Amino acid sequence: MAYHHARKAGNLADVWKHFTLLTVLADLVADRDAAAPSFAYLETHCGEGLYELAPDGEWRNGVARVLPVCKELADHPYFEALGSHLAAGSVYRGSWLLVADYLGRRRHRASLSLHDTDPAVARRLQLFSGIPHTQRLRFRCGDGYAALRRCGSWDLVFIDPPYSPDAALDYRRVAVASRSLASRHITFLAWYPLLESSHGWFTATGVRYELLMPRVGQLGRQSLTGCGMLAGGRAARSLAGHRGALAALATHVGARFRVRPDASDS
Ligand SMILES: C[S@@+](CC[C@H](N)C(=O)[O-])C[C@H]1O[C@@H](n2cnc3c(N)ncnc32)[C@H](O)[C@@H]1O
Repeated sequence: MAYHHARKAGNLADVWKHFTLLTVLADLVADRDAAAPSFAYLETHCGEGLYELAPDGEWRNGVARVLPVCKELADHPYFEALGSHLAAGSVYRGSWLLVADYLGRRRHRASLSLHDTDPAVARRLQLFSGIPHTQRLRFRCGDGYAALRRCGSWDLVFIDPPYSPDAALDYRRVAVASRSLASRHITFLAWYPLLESSHGWFTATGVRYELLMPRVGQLGRQSLTGCGMLAGGRAARSLAGHRGALAALATHVGARFRVRPDASDS
């Protein structure tokens, strides 16, 4: 069965995912000036980018819980993008659109290479016209992992598979991708769920920044006990410098935060 992100849009996992993604992006572009070459971003599992929040969607236990945001995080680019008020019917931006908006508002030129296997995503993206003129958007309807096997020099790669219907397969594919990206010195982030029965499955390369959240929800038939962002290259260094903000966000949503070092280092 095809995975549909709309009901999950803006849930706690999305909050963690998009907060860490924008944290890293902000660091990566901090020192770039207008004359710098286009920022090259690749996303393997991009989704539609724009989601209308349904009255009974998972956002009620996600973004709805982080607003109003605590003072400490108010200037973070994720909360800048979110605004101060969300309600059913509001629009929530997905990962690549947050990236495009962040870069566009700062007038950075960028090329976004987006991949998704869902033809419905392809149709939505063909109609999409809200991209700033400084951004070049290329969408390909197909397997995002395959895109990583091609030669490319991206400034940031984001891997965000559904882990559904076969979570073990996505853990394995992310592990392979992380090793390949690390060996090519490519900066990457990869989101992953913490599932009741996933202990020991995940043998990826990278530092893990995890949000542990009791009774947060379901992924297929499994209970989700948290989620993490796997970070490699400059992304790992960036998140290491923002532990305070990550811990503050975790506290703000009543969760725990932990960092797990790269298992491949030991
Ligand atoms: C978690 S959603 C992506 C959400 C998006 N990254 C965001 O944060 O807004 C996962 C997406 O992966 C797509 N998908 C599933 N298998 C795929 C594959 N092998 N390659 C590319 N996309 C895939 C699904 O159609 C779905 O849109």
